[in-house]
Amino acid sequence: MTLSVVDAAVIEDVADVAPVSYINLVLLGGPGSGKGTQAEQLKNKLGLLHVATGDLFRMNLKNNTELGQLARTYMDRGELVPDDVTAAMVRDRLGQPDAQAGFLLDGFPRTLPQAAALAEILMDMERELSMVLYIKVSDEEIISRLSGRRVCRECQTPYHVKFNPPAQEGVCDRCGGELYQRADDNPATIRARLETYHEQTAPLIEYYQQIGVLRAIDGEGEVSEITTNVLAAVQELIKPKTALKMSYA
Ligand code: AP5
Repeated sequence: MTLSVVDAAVIEDVADVAPVSYINLVLLGGPGSGKGTQAEQLKNKLGLLHVATGDLFRMNLKNNTELGQLARTYMDRGELVPDDVTAAMVRDRLGQPDAQAGFLLDGFPRTLPQAAALAEILMDMERELSMVLYIKVSDEEIISRLSGRRVCRECQTPYHVKFNPPAQEGVCDRCGGELYQRADDNPATIRARLETYHEQTAPLIEYYQQIGVLRAIDGEGEVSEITTNVLAAVQELIKPKTALKMSYA
């Protein structure tokens, strides 16, 4: 994935005017909408900590923790892990020093109670939610993406056998780790995850729209094009802050 001239200009602008501590983002979207793929791009370009709740649960599962065992029972059925458990995990992660320079939440919040929990966490951290980037993708596209997805066991980078293949089959371009197919990327669980998304997560679109922090991004097309649009949205967000700072200079 190479950057176009437009990408580079947008990134320079963002880096010039945005102290990263201003940027606390949420990536919202269906399963397989490309949240993880875009987060990979954004965390490098904006220097933000990427916190993906699905990755945190899978890491716990790999380390055979109690939390991992609990999460597995829900993940295997395509259901959500209970709100209190998930919110406590996120609060703990955002309380760590590497989150102090801004963060990118991927897969959280996923319910209205989780959105309320995030508002409380942010208030306690004396932070504001900068923007919710809603990546819009149709169910048909999601099914096709998830059926061909492969993920790195070591660094979690997502690939697709057709749309985004690694240079060498089965090997991560980034760290050389082994690629595998997630247990929940099977047809029955994908269907269940989509149902869960429409019932419990989709209401967040209207919720964040009403608060005025939602930006919808067309999630279908080239990965690099989508990244450009996401970065342009982030740039739009920080401009008023620059203007404000300058007017008091
Ligand atoms: P989680 O791991 O968050 O899964 P998800 O939301 O289903 O999202 P995915 O990781 O599947 O997809 P993605 O949007 O990151 O897409 P990706 O970039 O990989 O959660 C798993 C489970 O954990 C949940 O079901 C739940 O049980 C639990 N959980 C997690 N968070 C929770 C919470 N807050 N509360 C309660 N429970 C929670 O892309 C997908 C594929 O498409 C890849 O192969 C990629 O290469 C390809 N692709 C990406 N972009 C494009 C493009 N533009 N064109 C073509 N292909 C593309």
